[in-house]
Amino acid sequence: MNSVKSIVVLTGAGISAESGIKTFRADDGLWENHRVEDVATPEAFERDPWLVQKFYNERRRPLLSSSSLDQKSLEQEIRPNPAHKALAKLEAEFDGDFLLVTQNIDNLHEQGGSQNILHMHGEVLKMRCKSTENVFDCFNDIQVADLCDCCGEANNLRPHIVWFGEMPLYMDEIALAISNCDLFVSIGTSGNVYPAAGFVQMANQAGAQTIEINLEESLVASNFDQAVYGKAGEVLPIWVDDFLLSQPKK
Ligand code: APR
Repeated sequence: MNSVKSIVVLTGAGISAESGIKTFRADDGLWENHRVEDVATPEAFERDPWLVQKFYNERRRPLLSSSSLDQKSLEQEIRPNPAHKALAKLEAEFDGDFLLVTQNIDNLHEQGGSQNILHMHGEVLKMRCKSTENVFDCFNDIQVADLCDCCGEANNLRPHIVWFGEMPLYMDEIALAISNCDLFVSIGTSGNVYPAAGFVQMANQAGAQTIEINLEESLVASNFDQAVYGKAGEVLPIWVDDFLLSQPKK
């Protein structure tokens, strides 16, 4: 590959699949036995905050460090897989600008060693005050009755997650990075959800090379210059090594 100066990587649920986190669009249309509209919309949170908090509490627990886990959660602990580690290696060894944009709410990229990350759909290890929009770290369950640190109200803390119908985060930074990149790599995302599914077209308009790495063709596969199909944990480490070999040393 020609010498590259700036990379933007987009990841989705597929990169965490081999770590044991279910993707969203399984055949049965359920996500962890719930309909998305029951747990991932602002209306669901208004209607049944107990169910929504319980759902995200269950997603958060297996990501916490071993010291804060009870025995049951320890057994379910989720770890980064070789795909997360390959992206950390790419960022560390690539001699140029690197931005990782993830749609995932887990912290497996951070655990895997990535540094420059934007979580465009929020983070399950953060919570937000509904009144002030202040964002806090969240390393415990959130209960509906919990009093918010900043406003003192109950039922004011929500998971810092972008739900359906809400605006993704960091859109200006992401658009700027894509418009300046010369390589765009999309990994483990089905291309169902915009604006992320439209990033490849932005990259094409910027004149970047575009590569899809996924288990199967995504809905926007025809927009990419190249594709590598397979499990991210198997094909991504090989792709990263080949790419780094093709580039000048740091
Ligand atoms: N390696 C690579 N790709 C994989 C793997 C794997 N081991 N396992 C599954 N995939 C692919 C699937 O083939 C699918 O194309 O990952 C993709 C996952 O797609 P989705 O479940 O739709 O997840 P994602 O694209 O991240 O969803 C986008 O939708 O529900 C919302 O906000 C949520 O961020 C999420 C957004």
